[in-house]
Amino acid sequence: MSISRNIAEAMERGSWIRRMFEEGIKLKALHGADNVFDFSLGNPDLPPPPEFQKVLEEEAAKDTPLIHCYMPNAGFPQTRQALADEYTKDTGIPFSQNQVIMTSGAGGAMNVVLKSILEPGDEVLVLAPFFVEYGFYITNHGGEMVVVQTDEHFMPDLALIEQHVTSRTRAIIINSPNNPTGVMYPEETLGDLAELLQNLSVSRGRTLYLISDEPYRQLVYGDRVYPSPFRFYDETIVVTSNSKDLSLAGERIGHIAISPKCAAHDQLSAACTFSNRVLGFVNANALMQRVVARLVGIHVDMSIYERRRNLISNGLRDMGFEFEEPQGAFYLFPKSPIKDDREFASFMNKYRVIIVPGSGFFRPGHFRISYAVPDITIERSLEHFAKAARELGLS
Ligand SMILES: Cc1ncc(COP(=O)(O)O)c(C=O)c1O
Repeated sequence: MSISRNIAEAMERGSWIRRMFEEGIKLKALHGADNVFDFSLGNPDLPPPPEFQKVLEEEAAKDTPLIHCYMPNAGFPQTRQALADEYTKDTGIPFSQNQVIMTSGAGGAMNVVLKSILEPGDEVLVLAPFFVEYGFYITNHGGEMVVVQTDEHFMPDLALIEQHVTSRTRAIIINSPNNPTGVMYPEETLGDLAELLQNLSVSRGRTLYLISDEPYRQLVYGDRVYPSPFRFYDETIVVTSNSKDLSLAGERIGHIAISPKCAAHDQLSAACTFSNRVLGFVNANALMQRVVARLVGIHVDMSIYERRRNLISNGLRDMGFEFEEPQGAFYLFPKSPIKDDREFASFMNKYRVIIVPGSGFFRPGHFRISYAVPDITIERSLEHFAKAARELGLS
């Protein structure tokens, strides 16, 4: 075989999102793009906030010597300090720039962290349903993914987590607000999880890291406030990006933040800086680092995502679909009306609606809708969902 067997197998397992997206392309060729309702991709379609364009132009106009050159692998000190100040303000814990490493998106950040902490064969717990790339990222660095289901509201099931922890467990990944469910973990849940992880770290004599994947933390609805896990658990490492909050997914800018309360925060920071380099990222995009340093706390217009959430969730609820109301991000994860969610996804193609089966997120019996699509797509799709619901006898 001319390519690695592992990669060939991974490609074969592939991603349901990609498969459904490709199905969408076929349907669009047949029926025209306007007549296909594609909810498969989590690609933020809102423009970046207006401040972005202004700051980008100002930064691009600068001709300071060396600003397009390599910088320290962890990133520009002023960007890291701006983010550290925001963490300090948000958590009350004094962060410094030493605990912030600029990365190529949250995906890059996750790879850097896993490379830095995993020994061969170490296990990493992931809570299903989850962003399916985690599995690939973990095996990239010699780890083994251990899938733990969440409860019926997609909240961590502490007893189940405890059952899955072994002497090899190195970390647990959480993602709130969550892709694919849109749920956000409340303070109480984070507090209980922190207590469990703390006890397990002590009883096993090995630190269990909490890796919190937070690209949606600024995308929350209403007057909810995102509770930072830093406030609950000392051994927390955050990976995040501006892919969703500033709609900059293609620009590949993100960062890692390590709690200053982590026992080994200096070592972790040095290891992540080194891994960023040797994974070939070298450093995060220089121009974007300068831009996001000036946009800390700014995000896309959430009223648009909120309006879309209301459109899709009110519409589907009235037809008899069941789901948790999203509190953040831009995903809805209803129960599949047909037991086999993959069969339901094919069934919906008949109505020219593209959704992703829950099996693609390790939670069969559900399906994901990404409502990062124009309002008109949602509005026009509703009659197609309604026909499907009638055919299936939903009330
Ligand atoms: C939960 C989650 N984590 C990480 C990522 C990767 O984000 P980035 O574009 O910042 O690499 C995504 C992207 O969709 C995501 O949904």
